[in-house]
Amino acid sequence: MSELKNKNVLLIIGGGIAAFKAIDIVRLLKEERANVNVILTHAGENFVTSISLSQLSGNRVRTDLFDMTGELEMSHIELSRKSDIIIVAPATADLIAKMANGQANDLASTTLLAANKPIIILPSMNVKMWEHPATKININKLRDYEVEVLGPDEGEMACGEYGFGRMLEPIDLLNYLKVFYSSEKALSKFSAIVTAGPTHEPIDPVRYIANRSSGKQGYAIAEALAKAGVKTTLISGPTILKKPKDVNVLYVETAHEMLNMVKKYMPTDIAIFAAAVADWKVTNYSPDKMKKNGTGKNLLELEENPNILETITKNIEQRPKIVIGFAAETKDLIKEAKIKFNSKGADWILANDVSAKNNVFGSDRNSICFISKDDLEEWNEMSKVEVAQKLVKRIIKEIS
Ligand code: CTP
Repeated sequence: MSELKNKNVLLIIGGGIAAFKAIDIVRLLKEERANVNVILTHAGENFVTSISLSQLSGNRVRTDLFDMTGELEMSHIELSRKSDIIIVAPATADLIAKMANGQANDLASTTLLAANKPIIILPSMNVKMWEHPATKININKLRDYEVEVLGPDEGEMACGEYGFGRMLEPIDLLNYLKVFYSSEKALSKFSAIVTAGPTHEPIDPVRYIANRSSGKQGYAIAEALAKAGVKTTLISGPTILKKPKDVNVLYVETAHEMLNMVKKYMPTDIAIFAAAVADWKVTNYSPDKMKKNGTGKNLLELEENPNILETITKNIEQRPKIVIGFAAETKDLIKEAKIKFNSKGADWILANDVSAKNNVFGSDRNSICFISKDDLEEWNEMSKVEVAQKLVKRIIKEIS
């Protein structure tokens, strides 16, 4: 049976060239026996017609906020309440800006502001518009409001330019929705731990050894796992990130604390080690602020921290079903990552080039090289949220 059967989908179509793809979205959803209601913005009416969308969806298409018949039949509030999910495709820069700023001056924006259901948007716009800082701020705001942002893809655009801005293909959206609805059932029997962020290794009461990890990738993975129904525990080093929804978050400071916490949550089905654990701890920690010694030499005595990932993979009795590690490298990415793959005992390694030129630490984007026993894939650069979603889809395939 289709995961989408009898699901009530509200599709909001913005005014962009990709609006023609919305026709395919309706068609695919109907093939899966979903109930589809459509809101077509006035800008959208320039690209597709209400008549074709009504015929395909089997429901009257709504375009106006103050359409009295519509308001009597089903208000914009009811439209969102009676939906299981709201999809905005194409999500134009204008619609995204309205959503991010809480504007409500037409049927689409009012319905979105009044919504209490999961919202997925498929951005579509010119590459420069997508890259504009204003759009970036708006997209980040929407992510904070827990709107799911799918895409855009990279490619040739209708305007002739090349880059990120193409709306995701309808079939990709459909596959995402199938996972969204199926995974809840498929993965709810599984548990996961995810480590994320840096660790801080104290030198004295005011100083510590750290690294530039922001924790964003690990947090995104924990959130994606939780969305897929996995009982997820995130063991986080110090970060400034917001607690992901439906995730049990435990905060630690040092590598030793992280290891102890990980052990406490064993056994688990899935273990993902995304933390950038400090390699050394200071053995001559000073309870008082350390003073300069005149030479600047040999102030710190260091000892290697335990490797958390290896401790878990080598624990035969409690080895999780899937163990995933990261390899953060600044040169010879694939060569070094393969060495890590062969030595750490993880099932998969996600390698990323963290040299300064790539700006991975702290950024929202990542380029991953995925390594498994029989696979080596270079993933296109994408957002860390998309990396997380792609990884979780793979886990679902592997484990269920
Ligand atoms: N890792 C860990 N415990 C450590 C160090 C690393 O669990 N003490 C995990 C990381 O979370 C990551 C993988 O091991 O999943 C590889 O981390 P990385 O820092 O790239 O490698 P290291 O093992 O520390 O090797 P090196 O720094 O020498 O490259």
